[in-house]
Amino acid sequence: MQRVIFVDGAFVPAAEARVSVMDRGFLFADGVYEVSAVLGGSLVDNDAHLARLHRSLAEIGISDPHPAAEWRRLQEELVRRNGLDQGSVYIQVTRGAAERDFGFAEDLAPTVVMFTQAKDILGLAVRRTGAAVVTVPDLRWARRDIKSTGLLAQVLAKRDARAAGAHEALMVEDGFVTEGGSSSLLIVTRDGRLVTRPLSRAVLPGITRLAAMRLAAEEGLAVEERPVSVEEAIGAAEVLLSSATTFVVPVVSIDGRPVSDGAPGPLARRLMELYVAEARLAAERGPR
Ligand code: PDD
Repeated sequence: MQRVIFVDGAFVPAAEARVSVMDRGFLFADGVYEVSAVLGGSLVDNDAHLARLHRSLAEIGISDPHPAAEWRRLQEELVRRNGLDQGSVYIQVTRGAAERDFGFAEDLAPTVVMFTQAKDILGLAVRRTGAAVVTVPDLRWARRDIKSTGLLAQVLAKRDARAAGAHEALMVEDGFVTEGGSSSLLIVTRDGRLVTRPLSRAVLPGITRLAAMRLAAEEGLAVEERPVSVEEAIGAAEVLLSSATTFVVPVVSIDGRPVSDGAPGPLARRLMELYVAEARLAAERGPR
């Protein structure tokens, strides 16, 4: 079965999906994106992802092409047409196509592309083994709270991580971890607190991070938002990465130094169980 892609208002076979070479997303990375997980054919935490998409668009002055309910309908239609059980829905909205010029006309029609990617999120091998990560300087721009398609710094960070045999790069600024190349960082301190960097323009407001914080608090853990240094992370009881396409993944080494006993810890497993259980329950209840 050929993958079906949504482009500019139509569901088309992948081989027929086209955007202009003059698209400002292609020429300037003048656009934003969003990624929602799919579990058992249902979108996970999707309202929060759509709210962040709306905010990203507003921050760069592109009017949101659809109200949330319409986005959801299109995403669900795409999931259905692709028979997707587990994986993700990618949405990209760019400012549109025009003659190459830094300046833009206010009335450009945004380009909307959506596709699905199948992925065995629940069976990820790295969740069992734990992830090795390496630190890299955070080379990104000053508005990391916007989910921009300008991802060259992360592409290079992940290239370096892969070259070092690691699963993810931890981006570091002034001695503190900002976040992973495509994930949020959380640690469990030796006295049992969940700690993660506060939101600001320095990091993406991770949707899975927020769920992990809420679930940890419901489990009775103290949750603290403050910057985490590389040294504190290495000395932590547990280190976790969270993202829509991996949920929660334990980190077992940083720059070759083991975290705790070098094995996945109990909170990583517990948060994963709770997150999946909650997603399944929400799917049974259906959209509100
Ligand atoms: N990335 N930080 C960065 C820089 C990210 O790119 C991501 C997610 C996250 C986690 O956010 P969330 O929990 O909302 O997925 C944090 C997605 C998955 C991606 O680029 O594919």
